[in-house]
Amino acid sequence: MPQASRLQLQAQKTIEMFKNFIARQFKKPSGWFGNFSSRIMIRGNRNKYETIIKDMDIQPNDKLLEIGYGPGIGIHMIADLCESCTIHGIDFSKLMYKKASNYNKSNIDKGKVQLQYGDYLNLSATENQYDKIFCLNVIYFWDELNKPLEITKTQLKINGAFYIFMFDVNVLIKKKAPDSVFNKYSIDQVVGSLKSAGFSEVEHYFKHGHYIKAKK
Ligand SMILES: C[S@@+](CC[C@H](N)C(=O)[O-])C[C@H]1O[C@@H](n2cnc3c(N)ncnc32)[C@H](O)[C@@H]1O
Repeated sequence: MPQASRLQLQAQKTIEMFKNFIARQFKKPSGWFGNFSSRIMIRGNRNKYETIIKDMDIQPNDKLLEIGYGPGIGIHMIADLCESCTIHGIDFSKLMYKKASNYNKSNIDKGKVQLQYGDYLNLSATENQYDKIFCLNVIYFWDELNKPLEITKTQLKINGAFYIFMFDVNVLIKKKAPDSVFNKYSIDQVVGSLKSAGFSEVEHYFKHGHYIKAKK
């Protein structure tokens, strides 16, 4: 192979490796780059949290769980909004656990917020725990949906609901999100999986991404 082609191939490989590295920093942020991806999430996702929080129609004494809380801004927003609510969260990034714990310290001290460091896929689900469970920009990182949806359904109270935000598959394709990190689920696939998992009513609408509500 000519020297120029070899160099081109090497450059392409390096770019691919860098892209995968960046993508992994959104799946499970860590280290210096994790701080960087965390700042992007804070800047980019506040308005999505505002929308999903409005959709959840939070009531006094609601008990909520966020899967993949990242820097913890959504949990903080809910705690500000609802005095009597209890908000739990689980995230498997140690960096995000530390950041979100610092950011929510006063409500953690009051016992209103409880953050867990762990993998949602390994959670031993407790029945009828939560009124509302939600996640933003997380489901792409689940290689299959049956298990997390089963855990979520178990943990919801009767008439509880699961709220999801996800980007459209075409946005991920356009952004060249690597397949090795991002599962590019279409809205139809997610809705189908929610129905197969036994969620009774599944509704969704589009606003810069898909907002889904699935009732137990
Ligand atoms: C792209 S970030 C989104 C963070 C936040 N929800 C937001 O929208 O700003 C994905 C988050 O989900 C967490 N995460 C991904 N898979 C997880 C799993 N199986 N269990 C727990 N946390 C997970 C990651 O550590 C990361 O903090």
